[in-house]
Amino acid sequence: MMTQNRVAIITGAGSGIGRAASLKLSNQKTFVALVDFDEKGGEETLSLVKEQGGEGVYIQADVSSTVDVQKYVSFVKERYGRIDVFFNNAGIMGTPSLLADYSEENFDRIIAVNLKGAFLGLKYVIKVMEEQQSGVIINTASTAGVQSTPFLGGYSASKHGVVGLTKTAAEEYGPKGIRINVICPGGVMTNMTKDMDMSDPIQNGPLRRPASPEKLRMLYPF
Ligand SMILES: NC(=O)c1ccc[n+]([C@@H]2O[C@H](COP(=O)([O-])OP(=O)(O)OC[C@H]3O[C@@H](n4cnc5c(N)ncnc54)[C@H](O)[C@@H]3O)[C@@H](O)[C@H]2O)c1
Repeated sequence: MMTQNRVAIITGAGSGIGRAASLKLSNQKTFVALVDFDEKGGEETLSLVKEQGGEGVYIQADVSSTVDVQKYVSFVKERYGRIDVFFNNAGIMGTPSLLADYSEENFDRIIAVNLKGAFLGLKYVIKVMEEQQSGVIINTASTAGVQSTPFLGGYSASKHGVVGLTKTAAEEYGPKGIRINVICPGGVMTNMTKDMDMSDPIQNGPLRRPASPEKLRMLYPF
């Protein structure tokens, strides 16, 4: 039987920022439903949650697939009764290049995962939260969602889109008791960035180094 106070869904929970958020939430008496395409990473996060005394479940899903998103949302609602927190976080960087050299396939996949995936998550989770008349949603954009990001034009476009979606959703559903925010981290040391030069002061601020996912203060709005 579930003994936690809240139920959260975290997408991209198998690595990096999603894993750190899952562990943080689980430390706050929150049952964590860990969504990730990557089964190995998702199961590893679940083991870490259990090691620290938390409770959770791993659900394999591709956030760009309508069927998969409907599946993880209805599974959590039916099995655990509610969705208090939704961390809409899964994302990919794609292959960096100058814009004219971006392949269409690369562009399409980035938009499908980062933008459509965020949209689908909002679309189906908000329905549940509307019925509850409460809920907290955090979408993960990036500094690339508010400024130019050379070599990451498709990624930057997808994250600008996530910022736009969040602003609209926050206006539409705030009055209905659903608090919706977006976080825009700079460089964070995760699997996504492990092969990148992280010394760029524009991305990383005065410290000239990436943040660690565990220390992302932006996750406090949970
Ligand atoms: N690392 C950074 O510097 C940084 C900075 C700003 C924003 N972000 C954003 O933070 C979020 C998390 O990134 P991260 O750095 O933790 O990366 P990461 O690669 O460590 O983790 C991303 C997770 O998302 C999962 N994922 C990818 N595509 C998926 C899909 N279609 N369906 C389900 N799961 C999928 C991956 O399997 C992985 O476990 C992303 O949205 C990313 O764009 C990262």
